[in-house]
Order: sequence, then structure tokens, then C-alpha cells
Amino acid sequence: MSEPDLEDLEIDLVLEALLRRYGYDFRHYTRATLKRRLEKRCQAAGLVHLSDMVPILLRDRDFVDLLLRDMSVVVTEMFRDPDFFRELRSKVVPQLRTWPYLKVWHAGCATGEELYSMAILLTEEGLYERSRLYATDFNSQALATAREGIYPLDRVEKFARNYRQSGGMASFSDYSMARYRSVMLKPELRKRVTFATHNLVTDGVFGDMNLIVCRNVLIYFDKVLQNRVLELFRDSLCHLGFLCLGNKETLEFSSVAADFEVIDREQRIYRKR
Ligand SMILES: C[S@@+](CC[C@H](N)C(=O)[O-])C[C@H]1O[C@@H](n2cnc3c(N)ncnc32)[C@H](O)[C@@H]1O
Repeated sequence: MSEPDLEDLEIDLVLEALLRRYGYDFRHYTRATLKRRLEKRCQAAGLVHLSDMVPILLRDRDFVDLLLRDMSVVVTEMFRDPDFFRELRSKVVPQLRTWPYLKVWHAGCATGEELYSMAILLTEEGLYERSRLYATDFNSQALATAREGIYPLDRVEKFARNYRQSGGMASFSDYSMARYRSVMLKPELRKRVTFATHNLVTDGVFGDMNLIVCRNVLIYFDKVLQNRVLELFRDSLCHLGFLCLGNKETLEFSSVAADFEVIDREQRIYRKR
């Protein structure tokens, strides 16, 4: 038998401990992501080998929470990739109007900026009052920030610029209030939002969605997990529902490719057949 790569073996041991002790399954995240994230925690804890983490995480819940936080990259911004929201307005909104009631799911919503962007867009298109939005992530700390909707003031300039470029119809300040060094999004924007912990690896279908947005999440998953999650999205959508993956991910070459038609190739907006 050939000797296994030592680093791969150590990563496997850490993943096995996380799965068997706490039920967190990262086995199908890309190896590059795992290596980067685990090494970061290993160094921060002053450990020499990745496997030195195993005995610690079996008993130390605080250490596990730090590791989980490392595994969750929460980089996001309001109206991120403004062209995506432009295409959404021009190609998806006219179809959304045809439904009397809308269910929208933001999977991997991080700290909520994308969700609030959608709430603003739906408000401006006159669709918010008929919508129910679900914002989910496995990172409960990020979700707590999303629930609050309070962000550092120095990010507002970028948010406002993105908003204008995305085809925003008013002024970004109409939706936010400055408070000391922070900006708070208006509470009306979350009155139709349910925030919930949901792990795309282990949790089930969210039924009958008209629109699912999951951008900058699948890039961390290997092909096997990408297929599984794409199948979960397909099964969570209503007939003719939309799936938006953003410009970094695709469902071409996946197990669900034949179940969708392409609405926008660049922004990877799809419609369930
Ligand atoms: C880079 S953020 C993307 C945020 C937002 N969708 C955007 O595009 O700006 C990736 C998010 O995916 C979440 N994530 C990663 N793995 C996940 C999983 N298995 N289940 C649910 N969320 C996950 C992370 O916690 C993180 O908040």
C-alpha cells in the first residue's frame, strides 16, 4: 500500500473529529479551502501540526467555534456585482410580477448585505409586500449581524455606489440611518424576512421557492457537494422558479444542467424547466 500524503491524512483526521463529535461535515469542501482555513487556525493556536488540533477540538467547544468561524468566509457587500442586480431587474422581475405571492431564499447570506439589497430591489419594484424572504447561513454569528442590519459607516460609500450602478431608483440614504460610526438599515426592510440557521451540507429542502440566490458559496465546495446542493436548490424551487448563482459559479456540467434553462449566461441566472 502506498503511503498517504501526511497533510491530507491530518486534514482527514480533523474533519472526521468535527463530523463524529459535532456533526459538522466539511469533507466535501475543496482541499485548497480546507488547507488554508485549517492552517490559519493551527498557526493562531501556536500548534505545529494540523493533527494537533484533534485532541483540542474533541473537548474544547470554544476552539471548535473558532474553527467554524474560520471555515465560513463572510466577505460580502450590498449590491455586490451591481450588474447581477441589473439583470435581475430586467430579466427576472417581469416574471416575478406574474406570481401573486413570492418566496425568496438567500442561501449563504453571511452578514445580510445581499438580503437587504434584494429587499430594496423588491420594494422599488413594488413586490416587497407580496414577498417572504428567507435568509440562511450555517454561521450563527454572521446571522446575528444580518438580523441587526447594522454595518460600519465607512462601508456606506461603496454600498451607495453599488446601489447606483445596480439601477437603484432612489438614494441609498432613503433606506438607512447613520448612527455614530455605523449605518442601520431601515427595519421595514426586514419585516418580511425570516433569518434561520441552515447548513447546505446536512439540512434539507426549503419548499416552493420562486427565487433562490446563492452566490459566492459553491466555490468552496467540491464537485460532489456542488451537485448535491444544486439538487437541493432544484427540489426547493417551484415550477419555473429562478436560481441565481452569480458570475463565479455555474450549473453547466452539473447533475442538474438539463433541469434548467439559461436566463443570463454572464450572471448565471437560471430558470427551472
Ligand atoms: C462569501 S459569503 C457569500 C455571501 C453572499 N452570498 C455574497 O455573495 O455576498 C459565503 C457564505 O457561505 C456560507 N456557507 C459556507 N458553507 C455553508 C454551508 N455548508 N451552509 C450554509 N452556508 C454556508 C458562509 O458561512 C458564508 O457566510
